[in-house]
Formats: sequence, structure tokens, C-alpha cells
Amino acid sequence: MKTVTLETDSDFQGWRYQIIPILEAYTPFNEIRFVTSPSDSLYKEGYSRSKTDFSSALMIPRKFISLVIAVFSSGRPDRFCLLYAFLEKIRDKADLEPETDPLLIRMKAISHEAKKAALLLRESLPPASMTGQVVLHLAIPTALLDSQADALLALRPDNWLIRTEHRILCAHQGKLFFAPAPPQTATLETEALFDFACKNGISPEKSSFWHSVVPFHVTPAVEFVQKIPSLTVLKAYATDCQLCPLCKAASRTVTGEGSHEAKLMFVGEQPGDQEDLQGRPFVGPAGQLFDRALQECGIEREKSWVTNAVKHFRFTPYGNGKRLHQKPEAEHIRACSPWLQRERELLKPKVTIMMGVTGGTAVLGRPITVSRERSKILTLQDGSIGLVTVHPSFLLRQPDEDSRAREYDHFVADLRLAYSALS
Ligand code: URA
Ligand code: SF4
Repeated sequence: MKTVTLETDSDFQGWRYQIIPILEAYTPFNEIRFVTSPSDSLYKEGYSRSKTDFSSALMIPRKFISLVIAVFSSGRPDRFCLLYAFLEKIRDKADLEPETDPLLIRMKAISHEAKKAALLLRESLPPASMTGQVVLHLAIPTALLDSQADALLALRPDNWLIRTEHRILCAHQGKLFFAPAPPQTATLETEALFDFACKNGISPEKSSFWHSVVPFHVTPAVEFVQKIPSLTVLKAYATDCQLCPLCKAASRTVTGEGSHEAKLMFVGEQPGDQEDLQGRPFVGPAGQLFDRALQECGIEREKSWVTNAVKHFRFTPYGNGKRLHQKPEAEHIRACSPWLQRERELLKPKVTIMMGVTGGTAVLGRPITVSRERSKILTLQDGSIGLVTVHPSFLLRQPDEDSRAREYDHFVADLRLAYSALS
């Protein structure tokens, strides 16, 4: 008998390190035992497990990696058996015909189910705009919960806790904590549960073991984005978007926010530094000016929808961690357009205010010049009303007080005009 000992059900790297030498020894599956046995120090700060060192010629082909991770993250009892059979085929260089191979078909079905479960989990977390502590008790596998930790943190950076049978996953002040679930006998109140997680858990950057939990991405294809059924689902999927290279350097996808019944939609350019860090649109300097202008017009931001043409921050790093905003290129606007388009189809705003050249270009679907198109009531392709105005950061860039005041008034007048078109 050979034994594979995992630290937790989500210990993907541990599984991979141990299974490959066993596979290469041609061990039959019924001679392998899988044990999940957390070491005493698993949840202690700085804990790192030494992995079996091996050098292997066996590689999981790139095109199958996400499938393997999905099956592993599903947490199903038969996952080890299926994955072993799959690895045997890779080892033996068997033909793996995606459309007809029964094993692959089975794995794909599991992957599909796991995606649905991951998405459901993401949707169950109330958005960051809803304040207050969130505690969810869920009956889902540990492997699935752990694999979604990054996505959940991106959706809501603070003040939530998810408890499953064996795990507490908690976001506290922008950090994730993994903790063992308290014993079934302990019925802890919300406050006590948070305390328990913070005292008994580790935050992932402090312990290298947690790097062995592999995130399970639910990256959608464009055709999928076009059929997303609700704004909540849209946000949950956009978290993982990799449709263009901007996702690589930015910290998170910043999707729109506001009321799902909004009649007024604001479209900016792309998240800036602060928006990227906080995960919400228009919260930095331009956002503060935008808020002030809204107030002046009597527009309630919470009852509107605020979004951007491009959902990831594009920047150039320039020393001591600073990031210099870079305008998105046409290719980024194009790549990101399915998100904005679906957002608009789902929200069906009566009036869309396009702030700046990028917002205007994205909504109108053609390159525009702000000076030529601004302050006019336009009829958009779907029959709703549109209006182009300047971007609030344009106001911040004005060289002197006078021009700033003048441009600000003009901006406010544009917002008033658009707002009046609502009635
Ligand atoms: N500028 C934008 O266009 N969008 C934001 O969210 C912030 C600044
Ligand atoms: Fe996806 Fe848009 Fe981000 Fe590009 S910018 S990765 S298309 S969300």
C-alpha cells in the first residue's frame, strides 16, 4: 500500500507532488490510500510543509490543467480515482480525444458542476456595498471553498465569514484567514466566530502551505458573457476575466455598482489606483469630484449605476510602488465590451451618461471626440437616451482655479440635462 497524505482536502500541490512518483512506479489505484491529515501546526503562522522532492518527466498538458484543477476542487469522493485514471492515460501517451473519450467526458461534466457550485458560492456573498458582518453557514466541500478564496476576497474584501463542516474562511480587514471549523458542539455567535477565526487561523501570506491551494478560475468565454442572466452573476464571473492582458498587472476586476433598478447609468473609462485597490468604481480623487457633482444635481449615487468601459486598471509602474495611469487602447475597450454591453442589456438604463472619450467610444461603438458630441441628448441604438460629457479627471487636470470652476459648472450642467431627460 502506498499512502498519499494531504494536509487538507484542498491540498492540490501536495496531491500532485505525491501522486506522480507513485504513478511513475506503475502502482495500481487500488494500492493507494488517500488520507487527509492536518498536521498540528497547519493553522499556525509561518507553517510550511516540506514537500517530497521529485523530478518528473510527467507533465500535465497545459490544455488539461484547468480541467484537472476543476475536478480536484469539486471535492468529490471519486476525484482521486478519476484523476489517477487520467494521469495514467497521460503517462501512457494514450489518445485523449476530448469529444469521445469517456473519462474526459466524465471529467468535463464534473468540471461543469464544480463551476456552477463555485459561481453559486460567489453569488451567495453579499456585495461590498452592503455593510455589516456577513456570516454564511454552507454545506460545501472544503476544496471548493478554499479554491474560491481569492475570488471571494475580490468580490468583498472585508467583514465576512463562511463556515463549512471543516473550515472557516474569513475576510478581515482585507486579509483572508483560514481556520479549522470549531467543534460541532460549539455554537458560536457571529462575533465569537470572527474572533475564533482570527485567533485560530492563519492569513495566507504568512504560511507557505496555503500556496498549495490552487485557485479554481471560472473564466467565461465571450459567448457566455452574452448570456449572463443577472448583474450579480455578471460580477461573480467578471472576477476571473482574462479576456485581455490587463488582468495580469491589475489587482482585481472592478465591475459596476449601484441599484439594479437604476434608470441612470454612468460610464467612465477604467478603474484608477484607488478603485483597483478597493474594488469599487469612482472612489479615488475623480470619484470624489464626481460625488460632489452628483450631490449638487440631487442625483443619488446609490440609486444609479456607476461603471467603466474597461474593468481592469491599466498603468505603468514608476518607482516606490507608485502606478501611473495609462489610457486603455482600442483593443482593451473592444475586449472588455461584452461586459459593458451585457451590463447595459441587463440594467436597461433610460439614460446613459458617458464620461470622457473612452466611455463614449465604448457605449456608442465608434471613436468619438468629446468636444464635438458633448451636452447633446442622443438616441442610442437600443432606443434609450445618451449624453456625452467630460471625464471628472479632466476637471482635476485644469491648470487654474478659474478654468476648473468653469469646467466643473459645465460638467454639472451636463449632468442636470441628462437627469432632466429621465422625466
Ligand atoms: N476614472 C474612471 O474612469 N473610473 C473610475 O472608476 C475611476 C477613475
Ligand atoms: Fe477582462 Fe475587461 Fe479585464 Fe480585459 S479589462 S481582462 S476584458 S475585465
